[in-house]
Amino acid sequence: MRKTIVAGNWKMNGTSESIRTLLDGIKAGVPAVDGLVTLVCPPAVYLYQVKKQIGDAPVAVGAQNVSAQPKGAFTGEWSLEMLQDLGCEYVILGHSERRSLFGETDADVADKVAATLAAGLIPILCVGETLAQRDAGETLALVAAQVDAVVQRIGIECFASVVIAYEPVWAIGTGLTATPEQAQEVHAAIRAQLAGSDAKIADKLSILYGGSMNAGNAAELLAQQDIDGGLIGGASLKADEFLTICAAAAESRK
Ligand code: PGA
Repeated sequence: MRKTIVAGNWKMNGTSESIRTLLDGIKAGVPAVDGLVTLVCPPAVYLYQVKKQIGDAPVAVGAQNVSAQPKGAFTGEWSLEMLQDLGCEYVILGHSERRSLFGETDADVADKVAATLAAGLIPILCVGETLAQRDAGETLALVAAQVDAVVQRIGIECFASVVIAYEPVWAIGTGLTATPEQAQEVHAAIRAQLAGSDAKIADKLSILYGGSMNAGNAAELLAQQDIDGGLIGGASLKADEFLTICAAAAESRK
């Protein structure tokens, strides 16, 4: 069975105090279920604090971005070696906010995926269409191209280790969620695309949904055949809501 992953993307939110409280809440109720990964991705400046506070709790830690460069004169960046040093296991890459606000291209994202894998961390590769692209009927082609940029750069084998997050841009932070059918259609298309090259790898790949997933809609989304977890923004900032999603994910594995 594929891994189910519930990842909290805290984006640029929190203070040391509010993050301590949030994490205490998560630790108090996080389910320990085989095959379910609960992951928090705090702002990089709090990674050390978060990792320390987690202790033995079954919560993994990820970063929201990383440089593809190993080290040197790159002011404001951080490296994979630094993330390893802090005990980070995952890195969100190619989030639509990185693509649209910071100009990251498919090629940049593919470079970061390659560097992350080489360092032994797990990339969470984000893909997804804008509303204009959906309205123009371009969703499946656009998402396929975003996935293909990584296949071309690194090869299909990398998807034995990569996690994909399908995040329709129009659903991120808007309160608009893709219907379970809309999400399932894209997830199935991604899996079929990769199965065309390697059926085994495609079958084992975890594909997360992101975009206004919350305590109210998680169970229905997670019940879809090709939805293997969630990448959660706003709803991951409240421990009880995040834990309700984790519980729905645990339930979806039964
Ligand atoms: P949202 O964000 O849950 O607030 O829509 C998801 C994401 O951007 O990863």
